[in-house]
Amino acid sequence: MTNSETLPTAQMPPARIADNKAAEKQKAAFGSHPTRYAHVVGWGMALPQKLLTNSDLARMVDTTDEWIVSRTGIRQRYVADEKESTATLATQAASNALEMAGIAPSEVDLIIVATATPEHLFPATACLVQDALGCENAGAFDLLAACTGFIYGITLGSQMIRSGANKTVLVIGAETLSRIVNWEDRATCVLFGDGAGAFVLQASDQPGGVLTSFLRSDGSGGEALSVPAGGSKLKTSYDTLRDNLHAIQMNGREVFRFATRVMASAVKTVVDEAGLTLDDIQLVVPHQANTRIIESAAEKLKIPENKFVVTLDKYGNTSSASIPIAICEAFTQGRIKPKDKLVLVGFGGGLTWGATLLEWGTATPKEQTRWNKTQRNARKFLSRLRSFSKRILRMLESAIWGRSAPSGEQPPRTK
Ligand SMILES: CC(C)(COP(=O)(O)OP(=O)(O)OC[C@H]1O[C@@H](n2cnc3c(N)ncnc32)[C@H](O)[C@@H]1OP(=O)(O)O)[C@@H](O)C(=O)NCCC(=O)NCCS
Repeated sequence: MTNSETLPTAQMPPARIADNKAAEKQKAAFGSHPTRYAHVVGWGMALPQKLLTNSDLARMVDTTDEWIVSRTGIRQRYVADEKESTATLATQAASNALEMAGIAPSEVDLIIVATATPEHLFPATACLVQDALGCENAGAFDLLAACTGFIYGITLGSQMIRSGANKTVLVIGAETLSRIVNWEDRATCVLFGDGAGAFVLQASDQPGGVLTSFLRSDGSGGEALSVPAGGSKLKTSYDTLRDNLHAIQMNGREVFRFATRVMASAVKTVVDEAGLTLDDIQLVVPHQANTRIIESAAEKLKIPENKFVVTLDKYGNTSSASIPIAICEAFTQGRIKPKDKLVLVGFGGGLTWGATLLEWGTATPKEQTRWNKTQRNARKFLSRLRSFSKRILRMLESAIWGRSAPSGEQPPRTK
């Protein structure tokens, strides 16, 4: 798969068909129209309960509301409590997105969770979301591209649809950055917030949806924004804990310079590749890190600032969740209409950056009737019941078989 692709039908490579079954599936879904498009048919977001304002932070570290607002544009952020986590926020956002799209969890083929703060190293947070939602027919994996994660996720998800491999894909950006922030470091703790946003992508033979994508990385700049310990290089030890190496380390000025350098060029690239001009773009949805970075991109691109969606005053930098959250907000404010062309652009640790150009469809939130709510609650109950019974079955299986494998599957003994 290439990471940079243009959609116009004539240039679309034919979908690769792995076997006859897949070919039949695609034919059944699309008849004589093999060209698939990946449309956004549902979107949703979730925030933790607890609000943390700049004034609250000024009581925790040596900072002021005035400093934070003038240097970043951030006024407040939400932080997860003990009961909330990346998986719970991701599940809530995804559930909202499925609900508004009127799509049942069993219809989802693939779940991608972009996150830099997964629930565990493994199992993947995406698998926990799969279980919580009851997406019994879905594959699931986590994707780590830091704050560019949602752009990577939407690119992969749409390509899975366009290749014919999947019909319905959930792409989620979810973070609990509050768990990896050093709350004594005023240079970083004022920047980040927690939250989640989700898209449901679905196959269609109607042109539109995700048009072009552009992904880039530069590992030589990885140290500018990192969490050094906890992986295979530096395992958890007294020293790593003492030196706060499990928390975000950042060279703010370097990241700032990098972001202002790459944002404008990423936007231009996806617009050029789609054969469009900047005048054709109704809205730019940037990663929400700093208003000064967004202003600089607007200036370089000569796009009026009112075409940019800015929500970081309310939520801070929620990393891979910031773009889908900003889109949910823009839609609610009536800033997105059918056929609008949106550029989503992100940058972050890795270093990574990228952009996606998408044409908004005609999907509107499904009306939530009492019947819908009853169905949703029944589905939730059933997925919990299914998950619970599977756990019980596993326990019974262990009790019956103990630690040995079922007969006929014993591994060969070595002397
Ligand atoms: C972090 C950032 C806001 C800092 O702004 P800046 O103008 O570069 O500020 P500096 O780092 O030069 O620090 C200036 C001074 O403010 C101080 N300062 C840093 N954080 C502060 C805070 N929260 N409150 C008050 N003072 C603070 C510094 O200690 C420094 O003091 P000094 O001059 O006495 O040494 C800015 O560099 C930035 O936004 N970078 C990008 C970060 C980012 O977006 N990361 C995520 C990417 S996905």
